[in-house]
Amino acid sequence: MGEAYVVLDQGLPQGDERKAFALDVLTGLSERPRRLPSKYLYDDEGSRLFRAIMRLPTYYPTQREQAIIEAHTQAIIAPMHGEAFDLVDLGAGDGTKTMVLLKALAEAQADVRYVPIDISIEAMRGVTARALREVPTLHTEGLVANYLDGIQWLSEKYPERSRLVLFLGSNIGNFHKPEARKFLRTIWSVLSPDDRLLIGFDLKKDIERLLAAYNDPTGTTAAFNLNLLTRINRELGGDFDLQKWQHFGTYNVFSGGMESYLVSREDQTVSLEALELRFAFEPWEPVQTEYSYKYLERDIDALAAATGFGIQDRFYDLERDFLDALWRVEKNLRSGPSRRA
Ligand SMILES: C[S@@+](CC[C@H](N)C(=O)[O-])C[C@H]1O[C@@H](n2cnc3c(N)ncnc32)[C@H](O)[C@@H]1O
Repeated sequence: MGEAYVVLDQGLPQGDERKAFALDVLTGLSERPRRLPSKYLYDDEGSRLFRAIMRLPTYYPTQREQAIIEAHTQAIIAPMHGEAFDLVDLGAGDGTKTMVLLKALAEAQADVRYVPIDISIEAMRGVTARALREVPTLHTEGLVANYLDGIQWLSEKYPERSRLVLFLGSNIGNFHKPEARKFLRTIWSVLSPDDRLLIGFDLKKDIERLLAAYNDPTGTTAAFNLNLLTRINRELGGDFDLQKWQHFGTYNVFSGGMESYLVSREDQTVSLEALELRFAFEPWEPVQTEYSYKYLERDIDALAAATGFGIQDRFYDLERDFLDALWRVEKNLRSGPSRRA
């Protein structure tokens, strides 16, 4: 039997991908304060470490969103009732939450195809094997691709399909606010009127709980962050010594973002063969690696309005830590009647 996923080769050829990575590292390390783009955190090892983070008791977003999906399964799938559609899972990861929806859809004998999209081939192997095992009647067709390359490819290949798109795990929080608006507008532009988007937002809350979630005592979050240096060493011929770097996670009360840093523990110089350059770091100099923005409900409603979506529903966990918003694509140059109520 063939694989249940396609690896999109629309991206850059492998040599060019390395060049793009090298250029992003060069740009980020040449700025002050220095930074490294968070998208490079998710190589296969990074995706594996992130799945381990999701199982940590202090990392509340996963448990909360799981509870939301279990409590509101029927309300989430109801708008797609009675028609053939794709369940598109952007950044599917291990698909634990999605399996709840897929099982309910299979039970209801819905005409659904499951399309996980993930940049990590290891995550894709895991999630497609899991879907085949746990929901054997399901048609699964995954895409190893970037979020936007994946969904654009899908909408060109199957322009007529209706879609329920999932963007779970507070992944939207990794985008700065203007980037989040651009990303959602792009998703909107490739979807059809009345397609749905279920999107997970971590809500603003007590700062101590945020800090605990991003500085776990097992060191898994630190390992996830430090793995970026291992990746630079492997792919760009770097000589970062991981013992000389410290993970630091903090909350910026002004921007509403959790911010992750790698901090140089001492005066040091690091060489990067791919760039034929050496970089000097001062003691306790930070390199910024990731943001995770937290939202108020009113920001979320404003984001829907600004990016072409109508609000269909809002689902909370009991503690109101997390919100899954169900949005409907609104386009007013419509040629025919709406497909769904
Ligand atoms: C935080 S996990 C979330 C997993 C799952 N959606 C959940 O909520 O449990 C993020 C997943 O998105 C994938 N990912 C990260 N950036 C991506 C990108 N730009 N395009 C596609 N997938 C991406 C990672 O490989 C990882 O599996």
